[in-house]
Amino acid sequence: MTDIADLIEGQTESYQTGTLISARIASVLPPLMALCYPWSVWCFYNSISIMREVDSREKIVPLIAATISIILTAVPSLISYLMLLRPVERHDQFAGMRWITYLAFAAPALFTLERVVFAGFRSSIDDRYLWVLIWALLVAAAAIGRQPQTKRQPAWTRKLQFAHGTSAAIILIVFLVVHLGNNFIGLLGAPVHIDLMESLRIWYRAGVVEVTLVGLFLFQMVSGARLASIRQFAPGDSFRTLQVATGVGLMAFLLAHMIVIFIVARWEFGVDTNWTFATSFKVGILGSLSNSRQVPYYWFALVVTLSHLACGLRVVLLAHGWRVAIVNRLAISIMIGSALFATATVAGMLGLRLG
Ligand code: HEM
Repeated sequence: MTDIADLIEGQTESYQTGTLISARIASVLPPLMALCYPWSVWCFYNSISIMREVDSREKIVPLIAATISIILTAVPSLISYLMLLRPVERHDQFAGMRWITYLAFAAPALFTLERVVFAGFRSSIDDRYLWVLIWALLVAAAAIGRQPQTKRQPAWTRKLQFAHGTSAAIILIVFLVVHLGNNFIGLLGAPVHIDLMESLRIWYRAGVVEVTLVGLFLFQMVSGARLASIRQFAPGDSFRTLQVATGVGLMAFLLAHMIVIFIVARWEFGVDTNWTFATSFKVGILGSLSNSRQVPYYWFALVVTLSHLACGLRVVLLAHGWRVAIVNRLAISIMIGSALFATATVAGMLGLRLG
């Protein structure tokens, strides 16, 4: 694995003004997009609200507006990913700020995390003020830039990668396949979903299983954060960059998801965290501006989770001598499948029913 010292070694190209400007733009653009993120959710919510009020002949314009605004919610993540692919040059004044670009990638999850924290403090203040303040500071920091500190990759990195991958495989087998399947089944209606969840809870809520599961998820977050900090400067190939970016996105999602389920809902408010909770908390998922942010949030969560697993599988298969072209095709197929799966699951959460 390359570290930043190896990466910049031998690159003698002097810094041109043009390069500096484009490097600065590449550094500033992602946090700027993240700063604007809440307004794409706002446009989405308002388009849906208008659509509900007008009669069927007039629904087409708000429907187009809702579609465009939901697509716009993906822009911070897409722009961030593209900027992360930019080659890191010698004396790159902005390479030390790549962590901000990774955070901007995770905007859909971080925006919900912020709401969850506000809900935990029972605050009804519009959290967009804090969001704008934080991202404005990050835009300023990204514009100033910082060179990366030259650090050698710790000797135990491979062991940590192995432990991270093994723990992910256990989580997948013990919980994630059934959990995501359970959410997908929402397409058959709330009662089917709730019945299945009741049966699954006997398994994953059993004392020792739940404690182990939560322990494994916490380990994934801590070890993932460490691996991301080691790899953040190394551009690697597009898949390795995507692996780190989706890892950061997944970490932000898990923080929000676990805090809302274990601390805010179950412990503080004593709410049953079932399908009704996930899809219609008090007024429905599209019933308030605050709830609407969960639409891009859940879509993002499913896509980054499955894409992160696809990138991990790719590394394992490559290490076992599989051909690069085949492995890449497999990873891309899983990612396309994950986007379709996420779209179907979220459509189920919005009320689409099969049969
Ligand atoms: C559409 C996507 C998702 C929805 C709607 C969703 C919803 C839920 C709900 C309603 C619960 C509470 C379950 C219960 O009370 O028994 C839950 C628990 C949980 N979810 Fe998700 N989830 C989603 C995706 C994910 C993903 C992608 C992960 C992990 C990568 C995840 C990890 C967890 C964990 C660890 C728990 C706690 C399980 C326990 O009670 O021990 N979820 N989720």
